[in-house]
Amino acid sequence: MLKIAVIGVGNMGKNHLRVYSNLPTINLVAIAEIDENIGNKIAKKFQTKLYKDYKKLVNDERPDAVSICVQTSLHFEIAKYCLSQGIHILLEKPITTNVREGKKLISLAKKNTVNLLVGHIERYNPAVRKVKEMIDKGDLGKITAITARRVGGFPPQIRDVNICADLAIHDIDIINFLLDEFPKEISVNKQRVHIRKRDDSVEFFMKYKNASAYIQTNWITPVKIRKLNITGTEGYLEMDYVSQKIEFYKSNYSKFKEESKDFSDFVLLFSQPDKIDITVAKKEPLKEEISYFLNCIENKIKIDSSFAVEALKIALS
Ligand SMILES: NC(=O)c1ccc[n+]([C@@H]2O[C@H](COP(=O)([O-])OP(=O)(O)OC[C@H]3O[C@@H](n4cnc5c(N)ncnc54)[C@H](O)[C@@H]3O)[C@@H](O)[C@H]2O)c1
Repeated sequence: MLKIAVIGVGNMGKNHLRVYSNLPTINLVAIAEIDENIGNKIAKKFQTKLYKDYKKLVNDERPDAVSICVQTSLHFEIAKYCLSQGIHILLEKPITTNVREGKKLISLAKKNTVNLLVGHIERYNPAVRKVKEMIDKGDLGKITAITARRVGGFPPQIRDVNICADLAIHDIDIINFLLDEFPKEISVNKQRVHIRKRDDSVEFFMKYKNASAYIQTNWITPVKIRKLNITGTEGYLEMDYVSQKIEFYKSNYSKFKEESKDFSDFVLLFSQPDKIDITVAKKEPLKEEISYFLNCIENKIKIDSSFAVEALKIALS
């Protein structure tokens, strides 16, 4: 049975704990939390041992793997220590606050032959998986454009990174993942609309080999939207990250171009595509991510998280 611990049990750490505590195949040995109020409450709820000092937890409990869910500015220091102790890590995204430290963690994991998985949670969203499968099968033809919107209100807890590294990075990584390449050109528009000291609204425009991508992310929209739209030569789809629903509009371009006699016929038929609702079994992305992490450890599968550094590089551009 793998011995697991969670370091930092605020917002996200609590979710990791909830998932781990429902897995019969692991042994949740302890948590580390510097805020005693939070720590005591959570340790009691999940009936586990509390350490204030994560180094003491590592030395006393010798866990096989830890989830690191502290603020991003502390990722490097804590991940570096755990990796040097030969512990597998599931590190919350973004990997670090800068690219140099991110690269250092990747090479430390290699050097110590342990797995470092960066928690880019949307990669485990079943709707994203399905869209990836459709793209790879050619259902959308050649992808020409992707638009992602991740907008909503303020996240009170995130104070150490800006909106690019906190939110836009999700879609940056997903678009890289779907297209299986990194952008050749990136331009960014950042604004400080309601927060004076930090960017709270950002748009990325990225040029890939054949496709372009536009990402709109902000903390100033009074309604939460998490959507991805993809246009290809064979169709168009809309995916909702939250409901995990996909609507696919199959293009009639080739079919009607041959069949229709005049242009007005063609235009009419082209604007009546077949709409297909694609259903995927709804699953919690974090559960999928943690299962993947544990499976890789149990079956000695190497994880390469360099994609997380690439996403950070773009987010910070
Ligand atoms: N994957 C996602 O969708 C997602 C969503 C939210 C947050 N996150 C990431 O999770 C991380 C944590 O964010 P959060 O919202 O949970 O923050 P948070 O502030 O709610 O929680 C962080 C916790 O870590 C504790 N902590 C700080 N230093 C510590 C130390 N040395 N030892 C032990 N505990 C320590 C804090 O007291 C706090 O309770 C961030 O990197 C963030 O980017 C990811």
